Amino acid sequence: MDNRPIGVFDSGLGGLTAVRRLHEAMPAEDIIYFGDTGRVPYGTRSPETIIRYARQDVAFLRTFDLKAIVIACGTVSSVALDILSAESDIPVIGVVWPACAEALRVTRSGRVGVIGTAGTIRSGAYERMLLAARPELHVFAQACPLFVSLVENGRVERGDIVIETVAREYLSPLKAEGIDTLILGCTHYPLLRDVIADYMGPAVRLVDSGAAAADSARAVLVPAGRGHGTTRYFVSDDPASFRQLAALFLHEDITQPADLIEISGY
Ligand code: DGL
Repeated sequence: MDNRPIGVFDSGLGGLTAVRRLHEAMPAEDIIYFGDTGRVPYGTRSPETIIRYARQDVAFLRTFDLKAIVIACGTVSSVALDILSAESDIPVIGVVWPACAEALRVTRSGRVGVIGTAGTIRSGAYERMLLAARPELHVFAQACPLFVSLVENGRVERGDIVIETVAREYLSPLKAEGIDTLILGCTHYPLLRDVIADYMGPAVRLVDSGAAAADSARAVLVPAGRGHGTTRYFVSDDPASFRQLAALFLHEDITQPADLIEISGY
């Protein structure tokens, strides 16, 4: 048994979709979550900046004695997983491979779409992984740069004309390609599941990258026998609004307020 906590981080709130699945699947685990709410979004930034931020996020998390780190961010996983893994002596789990593995399991037609931030799509990480596993696949990638801001502003509901218009613009090229599987390659996007599913139709399977990473963590980690199932939250800006929005992502209220940290010091 390894009772040390799991560290989880994201640029902001999106990584809570992975925490939600960890809570369901591994309820005894203790979790340390860091959301870099002062510097979100990462997806519009250069690879150098994303790597620098990600190293600081990991350095902060490593002030705790962790058994593993889950990078609950598609952008960091796409750009910096190899670097962070090479620098770490504990397992570092990203979202890209777990989401690709799930897509490979569910696609029937071999026509797979990927949506993510500009940084994620520019990196080509999902396509590389999918095509390395199955070269005959047809992969269609689309950056959705406005989705993260809209989600962080709570614009996620069916019938919201703003999110429905933006979703239609981003998703119509993928729909035209006749995909049967769509990877939500950013951990913010599961909040748009209803809007995306309505537009893409019932024949398209949606793959939640945060949940897939949490399932992969469960598969590789020795579960905690005597963990308390507690999650501590840290943010780099505005703990009050984090707490308010977190319920939307977690489907539960945060009982303990998030602590504010100065991430640039790490
Ligand atoms: N949740 C992050 C991701 O999965 C959002 C990226 C961003 O901050 O732009 O990519």
